[in-house]
Amino acid sequence: MSKVHVIDHPLVQHKLAIVRDVRTGPKEFRELVDEIALLMAYEVTRDMALEDVEVETPIGIAHCRMISGKKIGVIPILRAGLGMVNGIVQLIPTAKVGHIGLYRDPETLQPVEYYCKLPTDIHERDLIVLDPMLATGGSAVAAIRFIKEKGGKNIKLMVLIAAPEGIAAVQAAHPDVEIFTAAIDERLNDHGYIVPGLGDAGDRLFGTK
Ligand code: PRP
Ligand code: URA
Repeated sequence: MSKVHVIDHPLVQHKLAIVRDVRTGPKEFRELVDEIALLMAYEVTRDMALEDVEVETPIGIAHCRMISGKKIGVIPILRAGLGMVNGIVQLIPTAKVGHIGLYRDPETLQPVEYYCKLPTDIHERDLIVLDPMLATGGSAVAAIRFIKEKGGKNIKLMVLIAAPEGIAAVQAAHPDVEIFTAAIDERLNDHGYIVPGLGDAGDRLFGTK
């Protein structure tokens, strides 16, 4: 069964509270999602391997440690996952970015794929799938399935808010995928929205409603 990590750092929790607020407009929403993603990336990458290096300082030789050549790929699920990309690539500028376009059919709540472009070397990369919302889990389960079909292996899922139903779905379909979230909310409503959640993440990011 995959592990679930709730990132309860005070800065993450504080910013998430503002993001949830119905009065927060798209500009502030985007900035905060970016910042939360950056802070969460710090935890998501905690297990990256290090190697010993010697660095010449102006005074002498320092014995240091640097990240040991492991490559990272980040894969936002369009649209709303896009809002989390900048925060991560600021921290890891060498990360390659793949994209998976999925939308939930509003009637069936089933994910429909409309775009997929992934780095060709995903099998060599540690992959972080990004989406602010893990609701029924249908989108994340399908996205991770596409990534595995294209050769992706080491996959983590990073979301802002998860519903228990979504966590259970990902754990059942992809027990190897660790889930990182800033909050686990109560439940889904009849339309598949997370309660209390933050509403429609894509619409709030891009001001489309
Ligand atoms: C939202 C969200 C997730 C999905 C979560 O996207 O960003 O991708 O719903 O729901 P699920 O866990 O039940 O699949 P949406 O389909 O609204 O598309 P958008 O990002 O284009 O707004
Ligand atoms: N997608 C969203 O954007 N919000 C939810 O609460 C559920 C799915």
